[in-house]
Amino acid sequence: MKLIIAGDYQEMSRIAANIIAEEIKKKPDLVLGLATGSTPLGTYRELVRMYKEGKLDFSRVITFNLDEYYGLSPDDPRSYHYYMYRNFFDHVNVRPENIHIPDGTAPDVEEESRRYDEEIKKFGGIDLQLLGIGVNGHIGFNEPGDELLTATHLTDLAPDTLTANARFFGSIDEVPRKAITVGLGTIMQAKKILLLASGPEKAAIMAELLDDDAVSTRVPASFLLLHRDVTVIMDKDAAEIY
Ligand code: GLP
Repeated sequence: MKLIIAGDYQEMSRIAANIIAEEIKKKPDLVLGLATGSTPLGTYRELVRMYKEGKLDFSRVITFNLDEYYGLSPDDPRSYHYYMYRNFFDHVNVRPENIHIPDGTAPDVEEESRRYDEEIKKFGGIDLQLLGIGVNGHIGFNEPGDELLTATHLTDLAPDTLTANARFFGSIDEVPRKAITVGLGTIMQAKKILLLASGPEKAAIMAELLDDDAVSTRVPASFLLLHRDVTVIMDKDAAEIY
């Protein structure tokens, strides 16, 4: 794992955006795995800025998002669909047909999961996967447990996740209990992975991840220790305990 400790959130976001931009310049039809949550917002802002300044072209980039809340429709402002369009896709030239996000309202979730994995395979897998991390070590919505699934699937959200994400829903009771997420297999097969962590609430999990040097299904992000090309970028607050 390559570790970069940035001075603050802005710097973390700039470094992440620069890495993504470099990969797109090397491979204009990059298959880019995208994440949601608060952490990558600054990275998306930087990428939008580069695009608006004419420094970056997304016209051939293919995107696959990690996850979506089960039961939320794309036009629900709390859905990850909505988040992605408002914070990124509406401001850059990614072609609509190149955007992929799991459908949280698909009547047959198993079929939707299969379809999603097939699409990813069709494009040869993810070239660069952007990741945040949950306070409990989840990546995408792969929650801690006795086992981790490799393929896209419907999952129950962990109590820690419901609590952490209640801020986007007004109250914890409003947070969907389930989500569709790509599995650990899809993430681990990405050629390159960029994990971002920001803020003091991520300090404990980052210390656990980086200090323990052990892999456990109780800390899904720990599997990244086995990947050959992971760059972790965290700000000073997230690196506080480590
Ligand atoms: C969310 C998402 C993850 C994200 C994580 C951290 O629930 N499913 O993809 O990385 O939890 O979110 P945040 O960046 O808001 O702390």
